[in-house]
Amino acid sequence: PKVTYKLPDGSAVTVDAEVGDSVMSAALQNGVDGIIGECGGACACATCHVFVDAAFLPEISELEELEDDMLEGVAVDRRPTSRLSCQISLVDVLDGLVVEIPGTQL
Ligand code: FES
Repeated sequence: PKVTYKLPDGSAVTVDAEVGDSVMSAALQNGVDGIIGECGGACACATCHVFVDAAFLPEISELEELEDDMLEGVAVDRRPTSRLSCQISLVDVLDGLVVEIPGTQL
């Protein structure tokens, strides 16, 4: 599935990810700036925060309690579309997913 990352400077990068990759790991593998993923995807650092394009939210697995708690600690103001990108596993139906990277993760 393809994923487009909108960067804080207004540019965008589209990558071709594998099914089963997370939105966080696909960014790291493709050198997309702005997603840190310090904990390696364990839902324990909140440095992989993204804003998901609202059109895709229904296709993404529901927010679990741990992720919800971690989102309380993100570096920029949380929005209704905020998710931790390591918790979004890519499946075919998410092809074309668009996420926005916040200005800072720390
Ligand atoms: Fe640490 Fe997502 S990579 S919470």
